[in-house]
Amino acid sequence: MYETEPKLIWWNGEVVPWQDAQVHVASETALRGLNVFEGIRGYWRPETGQFAVIRPHEHLHRLAASARLLQIPHDGLIEQLAQGLGEILHATELREDVYVRPTIYVDSGRYTARQDTVTVGAFIACHPTGPRSDQPLSCTISTWRRIPELALPPLAKTGAAYTAFRLARLEALQAGADEAILLNADGHVTETPGAAVFLLRDGQLITPPLADGILDSITRRTVIRLAQTELGLTAQERSITRSELYSADEVFIAGTLDEVRLVGQIDRHAPRHRQAPVANALRTAYLELCTGSRQPLDATLVKLLP
Ligand SMILES: Cc1ncc(COP(=O)(O)O)c(C=O)c1O
Repeated sequence: MYETEPKLIWWNGEVVPWQDAQVHVASETALRGLNVFEGIRGYWRPETGQFAVIRPHEHLHRLAASARLLQIPHDGLIEQLAQGLGEILHATELREDVYVRPTIYVDSGRYTARQDTVTVGAFIACHPTGPRSDQPLSCTISTWRRIPELALPPLAKTGAAYTAFRLARLEALQAGADEAILLNADGHVTETPGAAVFLLRDGQLITPPLADGILDSITRRTVIRLAQTELGLTAQERSITRSELYSADEVFIAGTLDEVRLVGQIDRHAPRHRQAPVANALRTAYLELCTGSRQPLDATLVKLLP
């Protein structure tokens, strides 16, 4: 996704050349990851010349919640970023599906400084997402644990937490797998570094609860809703053990970037139902929502000027 550098970026209220958006090397965002961010998808609709931006308001609401939890001042920034989303999508030269990343960062002032003495900045990067894969993922259960609520609020999407997620993902990649699933300190399944986890067991759809220390994923909410409306399945939000995951009938993950993606094996344990009818039905329904072939669509359309 990040292999090519975009030409433009939205930075503190305007669209500027990519290389102009800079922070100091000693800033707290560069040094200690003191920032909060979101990942939003814009689906390119060539037939209308629009991006369908999926649930931007929910993402910006979560961004504000992350900033509040981490005591990062953000007065007026959410409104600016909401406008900035439209501005960067109008300005970008990209005519394909994109991943848009609104971020609020601490620019100057030490990390323990009073909120009224630090300065913050904001940017929105916009990258192509690249092609979608239909291949089921192979996952490992990470030896690294999800950072617990007692150490850093899991509800806050902050760069600092992704240093821990990075270790889990590197471990998975080095073991020849595609993705890591992290357990919490109690040994319960939490999430991947970028998506919520679901499993199907004896006809029941199950996903970890927020109280087990996961991000409040927006795609997870959508999938829970789709399972009800499409399949009449009420998702149970309850703790999941590792052995339940190993012996599940179906396993899939759900996140903005991953969309709904089947898991083909976890530590070489394959889910029992190879055809994964429930996961596949939810994947189809989700993709139809995002790509616009199905209503209702929870998306904001950004029409590009000719
Ligand atoms: C740690 C983590 N969990 C879950 C998700 C999925 O969240 P969403 O569906 O809101 O993209 C993400 C993606 O942002 C994430 O980084």
